[in-house]
Amino acid sequence: PSPKMPSAFSTLPQREGKDSISSTMEIAAACNSLAELKTALETFDGGELKRGAAHTVFADGTPSHGIMFIGEAPGREEDQKGLPFVGRAGQLLDRMLAAIALDRRSNAYITNVINWRPPGNRDPSPEEAAMCLPFLRRHIELAAPRLIVLLGAVAARHVMGQADGIMKIRGRWMEYRVDDSMVPIMPTLHPAYLLRQPAHKKLAWRDLQSIAEKIETLGLLEPAVRVN
Ligand code: URA
Repeated sequence: PSPKMPSAFSTLPQREGKDSISSTMEIAAACNSLAELKTALETFDGGELKRGAAHTVFADGTPSHGIMFIGEAPGREEDQKGLPFVGRAGQLLDRMLAAIALDRRSNAYITNVINWRPPGNRDPSPEEAAMCLPFLRRHIELAAPRLIVLLGAVAARHVMGQADGIMKIRGRWMEYRVDDSMVPIMPTLHPAYLLRQPAHKKLAWRDLQSIAEKIETLGLLEPAVRVN
């Protein structure tokens, strides 16, 4: 039997798989490395959502410089390859990263709120987000970023509880608690949105420059900041 759900979560919808949200939190909390968390997600009963996906999409890139990007959910290409942001939106993201001297191989770390592709690329349901969030929170703790960028409204809503529209909150630095420190976090426009609304690329460019300045201030691109 699963442990009793903490009262703080009792108003959240129950997820579909057999584990309750509290046991999901326990599973995530028991993981002590990114590799353990990846394995835990791969063996987790993720209900219908997971059964409908070809792969668990965990993360890509390099966490050791403390620069973390969080998107929404895998699409078709991501589901096929088991990696985040490898389709058209991912290619645009790579170009955006390159514009500020970032890339996955050397200094940027990328994940999503949702680890399995929602069928037909529909928006993830609140239940699916509630199922994945304990894993994402642990993922952030284990990756120990020193700067976080939220890609799009869905990530802003689930990570920061931001109900305001992305146009209103993009480009604003906020703070996110990771263990004992407050980490700067900024929502920006999702690359898939920019593919549909290229006129808004200039807004994303402003956000990228602000991100580059913060990276510079924090000295995150200096060699070997730390070893994860
Ligand atoms: N969009 C996302 O939010 N994440 C991906 O991995 C791909 C597209």
